Amino acid sequence: MKINMEQLVAYCKQQGFVYQGSEIYGGLANAWDFGPLGVELKNNIKKAWWKRFVQENPYNVGLDSAILMNKEVWVASGHVGGFSDPLIDCKSCNTRYRADKLIEDFTNGKETGDNWPNEKLVKFIYDNNIVCPNCGKLNYTDIRKFNLMFKTTQGVIDDPASAEKNTVYLRPETAQGIFVQFKNVQRTSRRKVPFGICQVGKSFRNEITPGNFIFRVREFEQMELEFFCKPGTELEWFNYWRKYCLDFLKDLGINENDLQLRDHAKEELAFYSNGTTDIEYRFPWGFGELWGIASRTDYDLTQHQNHSGEKLDYVDPDDNSRYIPYVVEPSVGVERLFLTVLFSSYDKEQLENGEEREVLHLNPFLAPYKIAVFPLMKKFHSEKAMEVYKLLSKEYMTIYDDAANIGKRYRRMDAIGTPYCVTIDENTLNENIVTVRNRDTMAQENVKISDLVEYFRDKLSF
Ligand code: GAP
Repeated sequence: MKINMEQLVAYCKQQGFVYQGSEIYGGLANAWDFGPLGVELKNNIKKAWWKRFVQENPYNVGLDSAILMNKEVWVASGHVGGFSDPLIDCKSCNTRYRADKLIEDFTNGKETGDNWPNEKLVKFIYDNNIVCPNCGKLNYTDIRKFNLMFKTTQGVIDDPASAEKNTVYLRPETAQGIFVQFKNVQRTSRRKVPFGICQVGKSFRNEITPGNFIFRVREFEQMELEFFCKPGTELEWFNYWRKYCLDFLKDLGINENDLQLRDHAKEELAFYSNGTTDIEYRFPWGFGELWGIASRTDYDLTQHQNHSGEKLDYVDPDDNSRYIPYVVEPSVGVERLFLTVLFSSYDKEQLENGEEREVLHLNPFLAPYKIAVFPLMKKFHSEKAMEVYKLLSKEYMTIYDDAANIGKRYRRMDAIGTPYCVTIDENTLNENIVTVRNRDTMAQENVKISDLVEYFRDKLSF
């Protein structure tokens, strides 16, 4: 049995995955904190991505650039001028909407309104009689553009003039940190094009309509790759990365039937893009964007070259040709993948004995705890039990639990996705043998303590 959004929010709070931010002060709209299990799951998602995209991929290297950047970066990238959402208010009830979202919801995603000019958005809304979802009236204000970047000031501000001069933005994407370090990374890592730069980090957007729990938030993390290639080869690489991302999701255990690739129609594409695909997941409210993959041509590097005056072109050592590399960018939000992983792995199963169990069929690599160590009964809480716990916790996130009966402890671990439980019993004290129970099959097997670390090695790797 699957879980709906309301139940998932309650489950996340109950188990310690996600809490409302600043809760004791009444919260802060759309701010969420990740609890003991949430931070583990989030870290494991980032580790899995890094492993697949940096460690195992022959083309890519990593970067960790600063959140605060020279504000000219955001002028060059187009974010100061154009990173805005079309705001529209209902004049009758004062409810505020994103005009493009109104259209997307009304057409069930057939039209997204992305990159449409204001006049086209307004005409579509009135032509199709898209009334205010709150009060049912068709009585809107004009569209206003609302810039999504959070602004702040750096250093000591003693007069309004220096405040403007000292303006800095919280980055709305990690990508620009990659573009502005393109030359340094290429030179110091001695990479030849094609190669890619990966980064994981916080991004901030002052979203007008955040919501659906952690699906659309104002503070989030992105895992982005900017892949630099020779002009003319970009669509080949675009296909390569689409498949690579999809394979990664499947390897994480996301059901293929709940994923779809949505290619952007021509009029929906940003003016510099010659191909964009969203990998969408079937969330309880319908398919929604999980991962954006865009072929961005040479737009970003050219913009930075023109604004900074620094040459960002590349001389191909194979044929001495000189060009600004084209870019393919797969970009995914950690919180969206977190949500996807929870929806896709949560289940309520009917057992043969008539009982019901709540279980998270997480890929073992993602599980917050990999192993739980249980003395079968209180009397087996012993030095030997602690030895097993210490041995395993050196290698893996392990939890020790001797409270309640063994059945209850298994259920607790199933519900948070712990893939293996190791039980200490008579056999352990006498023969150094433990029982290992598998979360998914519930099958049990005897393993020697001395073999335990090796036994888990493959089972818990990614
Ligand atoms: N550099 C390209 C870029 O940032 P995007 O489509 O705006 O592209 C990429 O964002 C991904 O980041 C999205 O597919 C989504 O997974 C995640 N994302 C974007 N805005 C988000 C938000 N407000 N909350 C959570 N995740 C978000």
